Amino acid sequence: MRLAGKVAVVTGSSQGIGQGIAIRLAQEGAKVVINYRSHPEGAEETLVKVQAAGGECYMSGYSIKADLGVVEDVRYLIEESINHYGTIDILVNNAGIEKHAPFTEVSESDYDAVMNVNLKGVFFASQLIAKHWIETQRPGKIINISSVHEELPFPNFTAYCASKGAMKMLARNLAVELAPYGITVNNVAPGAIETPINTKLLNDPEKLGALLNHIPLGRLGQPQDVAGLVAFLASSDADYITGTTLFVDGGLLWNYQEQ
Ligand code: BGC
Repeated sequence: MRLAGKVAVVTGSSQGIGQGIAIRLAQEGAKVVINYRSHPEGAEETLVKVQAAGGECYMSGYSIKADLGVVEDVRYLIEESINHYGTIDILVNNAGIEKHAPFTEVSESDYDAVMNVNLKGVFFASQLIAKHWIETQRPGKIINISSVHEELPFPNFTAYCASKGAMKMLARNLAVELAPYGITVNNVAPGAIETPINTKLLNDPEKLGALLNHIPLGRLGQPQDVAGLVAFLASSDADYITGTTLFVDGGLLWNYQEQ
């Protein structure tokens, strides 16, 4: 139990990777704050699974919409979590969305939706928690769920790639600026993980087959593949790691092959 007594907020934990992370951190002994925007039933499912894992859990924003793209909602999530548990030790900025469209057809509203959740929400959640840690003189760990697409182009997902590329620099900057306060900041960059964000791909045998051919380990990742790495970064085993991105992608990122 590497996280006994710690409090972790996991944004976007009603499904997919976020749900896997919430469960895994609870298994490691953390008290977990679940956050959702539009899937209360998913948040309920996470809660049941967290409790089955033996964890203590608080459903922040259960009755309100906590949209990570809206700074007031972000503030509510962080403040409610602190009010409930007294503090937060670990912030996992997991909530993220993507929209498919050729670059020339991306609408302003889709651009805003992606950037607000994937970047603005991460920025201000980190700012709010950093202020709390600095004021209360506590150390803390920020873990951002980024993507292989903080490095790798993903045609037709330009706003998504821009948000993940920015997240890379956000982590590097914060790592340097917040290190004097004992705050570490790292990114976890998943490859192709079997979650709802990939529903379309999973239902398209041709595209899925082509993608699998590019993954050296020959399979899609599962949320628990990502969650194990997050649990490590959240633990004291990772105290000397900051400002870096760790990839969990089955080798996808570096797999160039000339046919
Ligand atoms: C995206 C997925 C994509 C995967 C691998 C992830 O960041 O959310 O849609 O399948 O990267 O390209």
